[in-house]
Amino acid sequence: MTDLQFHRGRRLRRTPAIREMVRETTVAAADLIMPYFVVDTPDASFRQEIGSMPGQFQLSLQELEKEIGAAIANGLRSVLLFGIPAAKDPLGHGAYDDEGIVQRATRMIKKNWPDLVVITDLCLCEYTSHGHCGIIADGDCTGHVLNDQTLDLLAKTAVSQAKAGADIIAPSDMMDGRVLALRTALDKAGFEEIPIMSYAVKYASAYYGPFRDAADSAPHFGDRRTYQMDPANVQEALREMDADIQEGADLFIVKPAGPYQDVIRLMHDTFDVPLVAYQVSGEYSLICAAAQNGWIDRKNVMLEALTGIKRSGAKMIITYFAAELLREGWVR
Ligand code: PBG
Ligand code: ZN
Repeated sequence: MTDLQFHRGRRLRRTPAIREMVRETTVAAADLIMPYFVVDTPDASFRQEIGSMPGQFQLSLQELEKEIGAAIANGLRSVLLFGIPAAKDPLGHGAYDDEGIVQRATRMIKKNWPDLVVITDLCLCEYTSHGHCGIIADGDCTGHVLNDQTLDLLAKTAVSQAKAGADIIAPSDMMDGRVLALRTALDKAGFEEIPIMSYAVKYASAYYGPFRDAADSAPHFGDRRTYQMDPANVQEALREMDADIQEGADLFIVKPAGPYQDVIRLMHDTFDVPLVAYQVSGEYSLICAAAQNGWIDRKNVMLEALTGIKRSGAKMIITYFAAELLREGWVR
């Protein structure tokens, strides 16, 4: 008989194989969603690196096809599409044009790779000349978005994306009642089987800065604080989730991910729904910048960040690292 005097936790850390057996959290290929930025341009070979997001590109339709083909060969299962239209206007017509860039990209992808899960981001800010996520009253320069008028345009966009073949519609605008409006419009158009991945808990975050370069979607006046959430709030996140569940969303995004892991954890423990975390552009850029300076180890910080996001309760992760993780074989 031994006198058990203290806990020897190191016994289960002794070899890589034992550590793997007792590992509680893994990031798998099926969890990853890769965002792409597709540009409506006559230049078929257009491919421009995004300055603040090294390794990420604005791509023509043809370049997107090449990029996705390679990623699929490495095991990519799902993409999230953002469009950059040829022209912008106050009502964001490019978003709900059946010949819009996201609609064309979706048709191209589904024709080549019917099994790839195509998720279309649904918002107006990439398509409006003022850069806001909805309609602005004539002459208003405060950036106040008209909620209910915007819902009609979002509904039109959702139906147009579904018609193009989108597998999942992901509204990121943060207007009130949008999930109900989209669900109603999709059902009426015969798309009752197309799920809605709602950006349910989306904060007004400074971490979106690099994305706004990538999508050319920074608001020209005002900011998004009258529709996106205050970073200080977590009870509000419970109400937003509750509303989207009631309105019939299928999947639920918390965004950003890393700085909001407490929110992910609480959503996981409170609601029995599939959770998605969005590791946003700023989270990506911070890791890239520090790694470029040799201050941190790119691979290991990337994996630790994503493991932390999963450990906090997210099932899926939208991450700009997805294609690289699969290409390098760091995630299978
Ligand atoms: C559009 C949208 C944004 C992001 C996703 N969809 C920007 C914003 O709300 O300003 C951010 C994604 C990222 O930073 O990676 N509404
Ligand atoms: Zn938007």
